[in-house]
Amino acid sequence: MLAAQFSSFGRPDAVIELVELPDPGEPGSGEVTIDAELFPINPADLLNLEGRYGTAQPTLPQIPGAEGVGRVAAVGAGVSHVKPGDRVLLPGPGAWRARIKAPAKAVSALPEGVDPKQLAMLRVNPATAWLLLHEYVAPKPAQWVIQNAANSGVGSCLIRLAREIGLKTVNVVRRAELADELRAIGADEVLTDGPDLDERVRTAIAGGALPLAIDAVGGSATQRLARCVDDGGTVVNYGALSGEACMVDVRDTLFRDVSLRGFWLRRWFGQTPPERVGALYRDLAARLGDGRLAIDVEAVYPIRRIKEAVAHAARAGRKGKILVSFDKP
Ligand SMILES: NC(=O)c1ccc[n+]([C@@H]2O[C@H](COP(=O)([O-])OP(=O)(O)OC[C@H]3O[C@@H](n4cnc5c(N)ncnc54)[C@H](OP(=O)(O)O)[C@@H]3O)[C@@H](O)[C@H]2O)c1
Repeated sequence: MLAAQFSSFGRPDAVIELVELPDPGEPGSGEVTIDAELFPINPADLLNLEGRYGTAQPTLPQIPGAEGVGRVAAVGAGVSHVKPGDRVLLPGPGAWRARIKAPAKAVSALPEGVDPKQLAMLRVNPATAWLLLHEYVAPKPAQWVIQNAANSGVGSCLIRLAREIGLKTVNVVRRAELADELRAIGADEVLTDGPDLDERVRTAIAGGALPLAIDAVGGSATQRLARCVDDGGTVVNYGALSGEACMVDVRDTLFRDVSLRGFWLRRWFGQTPPERVGALYRDLAARLGDGRLAIDVEAVYPIRRIKEAVAHAARAGRKGKILVSFDKP
């Protein structure tokens, strides 16, 4: 069975290796086996390969991957809620392998007729966008939300989800040419990042309320968002694309009561009842199915080209996610 694995930390495309591992065998009682179809390469995977992800270093060697999609190959005794052939999310971590054996309770059947490329990205980005919008400030219709890295997978989901509930979005990017495509999916304002961001935001929102900022970048970018929110507003940091610690000036924390919070999807899973997790994913899968949510894909690589795929995912200026497929012979 093919898998992608790393045995040391370093530049992601240098340390990832294609390996042949033993097949996991038949599922035992209460287990399933799943044949993987597709997985995305997320920024978190790249950080993991560099040894910069999470709160503790993983033990090596490790198979990366927090998500993907596949079909049930076989079910063990006592498993009736899924059957061979059902499409399911790949249980993570360790999703970058051709066949996975897992507890059956970790999977449920996904709807048929939905683009598997979109379903492969269901677990991480759509759920993150939904939770960032709903779990902190819950802005009211006609209020504004500001986010950076707005053309990312999370950012594009957030634009669509915000529009559905009547929120307006200020979308901060680092490439001006993205404005038209983000407006086409529902962005109200698109601005390039820069030292005068707060002045340009004030002009754009013309006195509207802006209680929530969503930060994927960290470093001084966090500060620029903090400067934009209302007094008493909240900045939620959920990424570290700059590789730097979040900065927030005392002029904002002390004199304007701006708070900095953090969001990590894995932590949310650990704190949330399974029924609520299941309900959210059924709702988000339906949105991917009818096009209310969609994440752009720039390229799909076969697993045999995992090094090229990882190098591509690490490039700036992509037009969408990089996916990897397990071609069937
Ligand atoms: N906390 C959580 O649970 C959680 C869950 C999901 C995602 N995330 C984080 O959310 C962020 C976005 O993830 P994604 O999967 O949506 O990303 P993605 O679709 O792979 O897109 C990457 C985005 O990052 C931007 N970017 C890269 N380096 C940057 C930098 N130094 N400064 C500013 N922008 C930069 C890119 O801009 P260009 O297009 O201009 O290159 C692009 O918009 C990542 O940090 C990821 O780790 C966190």
